[in-house]
Amino acid sequence: MQKTDKESKAYSIVERRGLYYPAFDIYSGVGGFYDYGPIGLRIKRNVENVWRETFIDWLGALEIDTTTIVPEKVLIASGHVATFTDPISKCKKCGTSYRVDKLLEEFYESKKDTNSLIELKKLDKKGMEKKLLEHGITCEKCKGELSQIEDFHLMFKLQIGQEKENIGYLRPETAQGIFVDFKNLYKIYSLKLPTAIAQVGKAYRNEISPRQQLVRVREFTQMETEIFFDPEDAQDAFNSLETEQFLDAKVNFAPHDEKESVFSIRELLLKKYIPNKLFAMCIYAELKMLERLGLSNKEIYVFRQLQKEELPHYSNGNVDLEIKTSYGNLEVSGIAYRTNYDLSQHSKLSGKEITVLNNGKKVTPHVVEASIGLDRLLFSIIDNSVEEGKERGWEWLKLSNDIVPYKYAVFPLQNDEDLEKKANEVLSMLKKNKISAYMAKSGSIGKRYARADEIGVPFAITCDYETLKDNSVTIRNRDNTEQIRKKISELI
Ligand code: GLY
Repeated sequence: MQKTDKESKAYSIVERRGLYYPAFDIYSGVGGFYDYGPIGLRIKRNVENVWRETFIDWLGALEIDTTTIVPEKVLIASGHVATFTDPISKCKKCGTSYRVDKLLEEFYESKKDTNSLIELKKLDKKGMEKKLLEHGITCEKCKGELSQIEDFHLMFKLQIGQEKENIGYLRPETAQGIFVDFKNLYKIYSLKLPTAIAQVGKAYRNEISPRQQLVRVREFTQMETEIFFDPEDAQDAFNSLETEQFLDAKVNFAPHDEKESVFSIRELLLKKYIPNKLFAMCIYAELKMLERLGLSNKEIYVFRQLQKEELPHYSNGNVDLEIKTSYGNLEVSGIAYRTNYDLSQHSKLSGKEITVLNNGKKVTPHVVEASIGLDRLLFSIIDNSVEEGKERGWEWLKLSNDIVPYKYAVFPLQNDEDLEKKANEVLSMLKKNKISAYMAKSGSIGKRYARADEIGVPFAITCDYETLKDNSVTIRNRDNTEQIRKKISELI
């Protein structure tokens, strides 16, 4: 049986502090939709900014923002209309639907049967039906027999305007907006290959059985970067970057035919686990992000090379980034070699030539994509940051300083007008200097420390009676609970 929402390490803090919560709760909720509360949103935005500083500022991608409703033709071209399905089976007695590949995956995981987990990726519908029978898998709710497997389409379909035949979909990935805009951007911005274009935004998939908080949801945020290049110069990374040093970086990597181990990025190229240096740069960029997010310990993450049978319809090679969580290894990113599949398809269906001139010859650029699921990444961070806090008596979040919701909490020691005034002065000074901070006045000082720890605030400033005399405050460190005294002027 899969772990329920409540069984994750993240759950109690997430629920108590409303980091995110089921949407439409007063109407009893609708599975697979979550809203973010103010603290969760601050952390989410900070994670997004780490991505932006990595892929936009460091890697040099241009950031755009395209529509979330996409006309059908675009998604016929991309292959989503024909192939974007999951295998579904219904209970013949109570009608509950199941995503069969996940049902079998859970079964093999519970048996720790890694061989069958690998073989599962190669099974078609008939093969999966056979396995359901062989293992006697029935409805989880009423033990009823499961029906024949059918394809269930994952896109949300809608009508654009008044014409019934004018069909559109909520986008299943942000990438298509980038492919569709590529030629125009290339011209307007006088781009040269290789060049990268990126965007952050919502994507939608009609999950059959949404569950496990932000892990399987129907509306989610993607951060996607598409690097366009001429395959003939694919071994040239962007010249402006630290091209050679990044190849020596070490990553935890699971090749499809070998055990998980630490490799240099250079070795991944030499062993042909990844196709080119641009792909290598995406791995490095994600590693840089993991370091800043506090997830770079090799026990926590692994880059996993997909087997041929696991590849999406557009891919000629994929490496997933998986993070270990209470729910097992969670796929939070996919780096894919999409070849020139998307641009060729859009050229064919739109009737427009999508080629560019590179070294005097016309090419339809190839693409390496780094696609990251922001909500899953956020869940993985929270889940890995929970500290039990047995000595201090409460759970707390050991978040990286780059993504904390606030850098400082500011407290007057007790209910006293002068102390409050001083605390307000400190708060204003921090805000004026663009340092994130909030003030809390009610409850005992211990309770206020606990509330700050719970959401990962690294420092708590307390204004006490000494502050009124000499303008010094205590600063309490979240990680070791130690306190030091500092002048207010030294805070910035
Ligand atoms: N663009 C890759 C994905 O959405 O999975």
